[in-house]
Amino acid sequence: MSKDLNQKIYIAGHRGMVGSAIARNLQSQGYSNIVTRTHAEMDLTDQAAVKAFFEQEKPNQVYLAAAKVGGIHANNTFPAEFIYDNLMVQNNVIHQAFLNGVQKLLFLGSSCIYPKLASQPMSEDALLTGKLEPTNEPYAIAKIAGIKMCESYNRQYGESHGVDYRSVMPTNLYGPGDNYHPENSHVIPALIRRFHEAKANNVPEVVIWGTGTPRREFLYVDDMAAASVFVMELDKATYDSQTEPMQGHINVGYGADITIRELAHVVAKTTNYRGNIVFDSNKLDGAPRKWMDSFRLSELGWRPKINLDFGLELAYADFMLKNNYVNQTLT
Ligand SMILES: NC(=O)c1ccc[n+]([C@@H]2O[C@H](COP(=O)([O-])OP(=O)(O)OC[C@H]3O[C@@H](n4cnc5c(N)ncnc54)[C@H](OP(=O)(O)O)[C@@H]3O)[C@@H](O)[C@H]2O)c1
Repeated sequence: MSKDLNQKIYIAGHRGMVGSAIARNLQSQGYSNIVTRTHAEMDLTDQAAVKAFFEQEKPNQVYLAAAKVGGIHANNTFPAEFIYDNLMVQNNVIHQAFLNGVQKLLFLGSSCIYPKLASQPMSEDALLTGKLEPTNEPYAIAKIAGIKMCESYNRQYGESHGVDYRSVMPTNLYGPGDNYHPENSHVIPALIRRFHEAKANNVPEVVIWGTGTPRREFLYVDDMAAASVFVMELDKATYDSQTEPMQGHINVGYGADITIRELAHVVAKTTNYRGNIVFDSNKLDGAPRKWMDSFRLSELGWRPKINLDFGLELAYADFMLKNNYVNQTLT
């Protein structure tokens, strides 16, 4: 069946790392009727503003990639904001989408929905089988509520209104649009910045906290965007073949993980840092392994295209551009 490239698609969070990648993907396929609002133009926690937007724009599809996102420090410091903002954003968008006749919506969650001690790799059916990691529990509870919102609207309004709201749970993402803040970034952007600056300042040694043995999985953000569009566009019978009415989410992983030690060496190579890399084993490691089971997505026919080496090169180029390093000669 050919795609209707004129249908109106609202991307919530189009300036974020994932939302901007979804916009790139849709535009590259020829979708020409994408509607967006910046955070300044519309605060998605504001019910009246979201209602007015949907009544005015009447989109056909919604990608819900707006969320209050942050690392451990931010989650620990602002737990009230993490639960309130995320619940409000998703409640407003999902409910107004329904009230305004949107039949197709994709909700972006996170791997933190799974219990802290979930067996590895974490499969979709691990949801709600144990206690969550306390540091980001408020955020994770909001994301779980988002999955359950989608499922509940499907169950109540699927037959009567053609509602078909889906959820995808990404692993750790990296790539263009990432946050390279010195204290508040995820592991890949943090390593890129540290190795780049160590090279620029001729620092002979970079110390990394922990033993380097924990294993983590990383997916390039344009692969995540491709998976999001893929899942959104699957016909209903195919999507239903890998989900249940009360387990409607799909994991999106890379399919393989890597130790932090290996990752550090790949990032050092990418940034051309030639000094020593030292692991401070007096500092605490996180969970030994966090790895998504992406069996369902691969059964549906999707595979990532961008491997870590190439993805890191692209991410480093983005970091250089973003930080205006492009015209500086760094050897
Ligand atoms: N990055 C990852 O590694 C990762 C991993 C797993 C899952 N995810 C999920 O993917 C989704 C997108 O994440 P991301 O990395 O793209 O985050 P991001 O770069 O921080 O983007 C989030 C976007 O949402 C907007 N937003 C937040 N609160 C808003 C509000 N109240 N009203 C309007 N806009 C608002 C932000 O605008 P402002 O910046 O102006 O506030 C930003 O543009 C999230 O649901 C996240 O949980 C991300």
